[in-house]
Amino acid sequence: MDRKDKYYTRAKKENYRSRASYKLLEIQSKFNIIKPDSYVLEFGSSPGGWTQVVQQFTEKPVISVDINKMEPIDNVLFIQGNINDPGLTSKIRDSMISAGMNSLDVIISDAMIKTSGNYDRDHYGSYLLCENVMERSLSLLGSGGNAVLKQFQGDSTNTFVNTWKKYFNFYKITKPNASRQHSREVYIVFKGKI
Ligand SMILES: C[S@@+](CC[C@H](N)C(=O)[O-])C[C@H]1O[C@@H](n2cnc3c(N)ncnc32)[C@H](O)[C@@H]1O
Repeated sequence: MDRKDKYYTRAKKENYRSRASYKLLEIQSKFNIIKPDSYVLEFGSSPGGWTQVVQQFTEKPVISVDINKMEPIDNVLFIQGNINDPGLTSKIRDSMISAGMNSLDVIISDAMIKTSGNYDRDHYGSYLLCENVMERSLSLLGSGGNAVLKQFQGDSTNTFVNTWKKYFNFYKITKPNASRQHSREVYIVFKGKI
């Protein structure tokens, strides 16, 4: 497999920290998730390609979470933390307070477990991460808010969508062109929190 594809080369040239930036750019151009005054919370942020894209669309500080370290970016409050940790919500709340945020406008997650190659295991690990992202942060999302989550598609994807779509006015499962064609990853877009 050629990991250094055209998006990799473009990312190097355009100074994005990862080729994943182009996935969020496509999602943003299709669904207009982030507005100039949006408060955004991001999960699975390292190395920071999505964070750079978020900053192109909002002037507000961004809260980014990853289990691994991330090289600092101006105006980004980084939390090194695990999505599966029930204590994460209070750390996010602390960051929101220090950034002057009452509620969030957008939650995005590009988090993914280390893949094993076992389809069921990878799908289920991804599904659990998505569940935890929603459980830890949906209450922080204000009315009208949007969410975008990566998931390795599989048997539980419909269950996930059906569980959470009732909190929103709109949902869609999308696969950006920048996603590798053989990959099972999809992005679930929820818009307009009720
Ligand atoms: C595909 S990478 C994200 C790339 C990033 N969006 C970018 O554009 O640079 C997936 C990230 O999910 C993170 N991750 C995986 N499991 C996690 C967990 N349980 N809690 C927090 N982050 C996690 C990984 O450390 C990794 O940085």
